[in-house]
Amino acid sequence: MPDNSASQQRFYDRTAEYVAVLIPSAWQGLGPALGRALDGLDTALGPVVDVGAGTGEGTVAIAQALPATEILAVEPHPSLRTALLARLASGNGLPGRVTVLGEDILSATLPEQISGLVAMNVIGHLTPAERNALWTLLAERLAPRGRAVLNIYPPTRPESVPSTPMSETTLGRRLYTASASAEPAGTDSVTWHMTYRIVDNGTVVNEFTASDLWHVFTSEELSEELIEHDLHLTSVDADHGLHVITHAGEGA
Ligand SMILES: C[S@@+](CC[C@H](N)C(=O)[O-])C[C@H]1O[C@@H](n2cnc3c(N)ncnc32)[C@H](O)[C@@H]1O
Repeated sequence: MPDNSASQQRFYDRTAEYVAVLIPSAWQGLGPALGRALDGLDTALGPVVDVGAGTGEGTVAIAQALPATEILAVEPHPSLRTALLARLASGNGLPGRVTVLGEDILSATLPEQISGLVAMNVIGHLTPAERNALWTLLAERLAPRGRAVLNIYPPTRPESVPSTPMSETTLGRRLYTASASAEPAGTDSVTWHMTYRIVDNGTVVNEFTASDLWHVFTSEELSEELIEHDLHLTSVDADHGLHVITHAGEGA
């Protein structure tokens, strides 16, 4: 298991239900953008791996973009995995194509060859050593002309981010909101402070802040570390921070 898994587990223990409520709004633009990044991928050569699938917003986007592909949705946190499984089991056309694996990406049993890998809103959870192990895995298993898609968002250096509203959603009588701030944590990380609030008829009924470590890097730094693995990075959608990784020499 990754070194930082215990504190990450505690973070999602506290925040999973808020992630479930608030992350769909982030996917309104991200889903179509991910679909464009995956367009034309040849999925005959293996499944697509969804790293840290969470509640499955991205899993659905992958399935819609690639209607024939098998998907391996890797989600280590039990609460988020429950939301993902409930989504699949309720029957939305996906269950036959999506297998849920409950380990972290470096512990999961994956096939020898995959046609693609998607890592949305997750890569900063991995330490540099874990990231390096992921690139080793990718270089070994990604099929020829396969593609990995990930997003990188600011800060890409250990910098402060003032408290910023992230999203809000109304469910019945209750308004759910999230805001986020960050502060530097060492040479290659920030600590994100996520503040969640539930307001019922003007009264705050729950409010708390949960904090988590997030490893930051620029796309130039990522490009450099991928070269070591004969992998190539291409920015494909600056608005959504989307980047595509291919085997070197193949292009995105
Ligand atoms: C912010 S959530 C994003 C979920 C989903 N990708 C989305 O964008 O809706 C990050 C997810 O990554 C998962 N995660 C963290 N570390 C992981 C690891 N080493 N392997 C696989 N998943 C991981 C967490 O459990 C969590 O579900």
